[in-house]
Amino acid sequence: MESGKRFKIAVIGAGNVGASVAQYCAEMELGDVVLVDVVEGLPQGKALDLTEAGPIRGYGSVVTGSNEFAEIAGSDVVVVTAGLARKPGMSRLDLLGRNGAIMTTVCEQVARHAPSSIVVVVTNPLDTMTYLAHKKLGFPAKHVLGMAGCLDSGRLRAFIAMETGVSPKNIDTMVLGSHGDDMVPLPQYTTVSGVPITDILPKHRIEALIERTRQGGGEIVALLKTGSAYYAPGASAARMVQSIVRDEKQLLPCSAYLTGQYGLTDIYIGVPVRLGKGGVEEIVSLPISKQDLAALHKSAEEVRAGINALRDLKVL
Ligand code: NAI
Ligand code: 2OP
Repeated sequence: MESGKRFKIAVIGAGNVGASVAQYCAEMELGDVVLVDVVEGLPQGKALDLTEAGPIRGYGSVVTGSNEFAEIAGSDVVVVTAGLARKPGMSRLDLLGRNGAIMTTVCEQVARHAPSSIVVVVTNPLDTMTYLAHKKLGFPAKHVLGMAGCLDSGRLRAFIAMETGVSPKNIDTMVLGSHGDDMVPLPQYTTVSGVPITDILPKHRIEALIERTRQGGGEIVALLKTGSAYYAPGASAARMVQSIVRDEKQLLPCSAYLTGQYGLTDIYIGVPVRLGKGGVEEIVSLPISKQDLAALHKSAEEVRAGINALRDLKVL
């Protein structure tokens, strides 16, 4: 990726999360944004609305919308949000099959029109869909990654800020593992202005905030009733795009392809990643406790079950 150039960011799926990603990317002037969706008028309408917000919000990013994948040609980064959110009555297997089919179609188009892009997957079930995208795209693993850890870490930071009254800007944390009930928050890497959280809050309060983080997606669904979260997910994906296009090399928890790191192979799961213009430039092996490593492996079992289900469904 050349520095000093104007970047192109494609967002596939112009629903709630896709529109939010587009909005944050445009507001931060990370590049020009093209929204693509199968619903006629939806990406065009949202893109025009975002373009009209530019003069008011003070950004000059060009946002366009299309139903044609050819419009993503030349994209530096492609964010995939196309797919369904799980609805009441829909089993995990139903969701896997339907989003697996959507991801397959989308990846064929991305491989055809934006073969040099770095792809950030958002569609759920996140780690399984990112694995599928990697296999379908045929891109190097460092160019395919998934968004979940930034969101889960952001939620934990927000809850700690609410609990302590300290600005979330002063709070750092790291949530690894799969995006689900088995995610692995790491209290030893959770600090408030550099002070370990374990020195600030009692154990039972830390556990309560971690449990709220595990249930964070469900908490929003229960409130919204008709959909799932999108502002924080959109902001999380945009933060990843920012680190890539600006070559910031931020250390962020992302779903990345493992080849032995943390004792895991041939799987996508949330781990600390140095994210820059080369995509996943390094998977950082943090020292973690035996219990956390065991929790990471348990979380990997959930992802493997999803991958096996995709094989049974003949999607993989
Ligand atoms: P949404 O229903 O608002 O938007 C999804 C969009 O995808 C729709 O506009 C639909 O027309 C479009 N779409 C479907 N098939 C397509 C195709 N073949 N090509 C292009 N577009 C297509 O859903 P929302 O809320 O935006 O969520 C999207 C996905 O992101 C869901 O799977 C959801 O579970 C997931 N998600 C993941 C998070 C994470 O942390 N990884 C956080 C929040 C949501
Ligand atoms: C979330 O965590 C639904 O994965 C989505 O909000």
